Amino acid sequence: MSHPLVNDRYIKATLQQDTDRTPIWMMRQAGRYLPEYRQLRAEAGSFMDLCTNPELACEVTLQPLRRFPLDAAILFSDILTIPDAMGLGLYFTPGEGPAFKKAVRDEKTVKELPIPDPNQELKYVTDAVSTIRRELKGSVPLIGFSGSPWTLATYMVEGGPTKNFSEVKGMMYGNPKAMHLLLDKLADSIIVYLNAQVEAGAQALMIFDTWGGVLSPQAYQEFSLRYMSKIVDGLNREKDGQRIPVTLFTKGGGKWLDIMAESGCDCLGVDWTTDLSEARQRVAGKTALQGNMDPSLLYASDERIREEVETILASYGHGNGHVFNLGHGIHQFVKPEKAGVFIEAVHELSKKYHQ
Ligand code: CP3
Repeated sequence: MSHPLVNDRYIKATLQQDTDRTPIWMMRQAGRYLPEYRQLRAEAGSFMDLCTNPELACEVTLQPLRRFPLDAAILFSDILTIPDAMGLGLYFTPGEGPAFKKAVRDEKTVKELPIPDPNQELKYVTDAVSTIRRELKGSVPLIGFSGSPWTLATYMVEGGPTKNFSEVKGMMYGNPKAMHLLLDKLADSIIVYLNAQVEAGAQALMIFDTWGGVLSPQAYQEFSLRYMSKIVDGLNREKDGQRIPVTLFTKGGGKWLDIMAESGCDCLGVDWTTDLSEARQRVAGKTALQGNMDPSLLYASDERIREEVETILASYGHGNGHVFNLGHGIHQFVKPEKAGVFIEAVHELSKKYHQ
């Protein structure tokens, strides 16, 4: 079944091997800023109707690749599939973001949560992975992903939108035993989930720690990084003789890149609040780096976008180990043409950093 990988720039860069230019993909590259996505979603019904139908999830994954010369595809799914499969009842209210019918607030509820079977409750995800992998025909690698235990726990404990994380931080400081039990169960669930994605054909993995940056340095180590490291240790890092690179991304975690680099991952995501030159010093050659243009630059002029791409490339400097990306997901109101300008600029301007 498996085609040889035609464009392996993304895999090589995450493993700090030489490439002819800097590879690029965009977080949330499949989604609402694309009219073809909005149309398919309207026909399908809801976002989860897209995620749970492997053919539709595959179609949505491929949409940005038809428009732009991207160097990687990312599985179209969501980080909240695991808590949903644990029976919490995921739903989305327009304008308010994700919520759960049932929140997790005490040790008894934590103990009762099942570890979802990736070949049962989450089979729609592994089916999507194998469908996408077949349709990509080896053109670019497919990235599988999950949320971090801490980030999933914030959604599960809060149950709905939050401004100050009072419920989840209340449990972390007030009942650390229950919180550790929850994070450990999530880490175990994520390990089997990501290994199943690799088994189904994912060629790289990424862990989104969207809310790690709201923690104190001590709490970050104890409640977020520790469990991401546990996951990295539990992952199968090779399939069919190929290394499966793992990227960790803590939004707002720029100050902690040095300790994150000790986790054993291959690459670290960086948001736009940290310069890549500083990030590169912090990781000291232990990992590659991914990032980090402010997604809001895509509202600026073409010239300004190109200027920012040049600044970021110069900040990282010469040599391998850089995957270009936005510092967080592309916004839904960005014009698709602006993404085109951004991607083209990375193609053109990055060559001289690889000579
Ligand atoms: O990057 C990609 O193209 C792959 C798909 C992907 C989605 N969500 C699709 C999606 C990925 C990797 C995610 C991860 C995700 N989901 C994260 C971590 C990354 C990040 O952005 O920090 C988080 C925190 C979530 C939880 C979540 N799911 C949120 C906050 C939302 C937005 C809700 C809203 O109403 O704005 C979602 C829904 C979601 N996930 C959409 C997409 C394309 C929008 C769904 C829609 O309305 O069509």
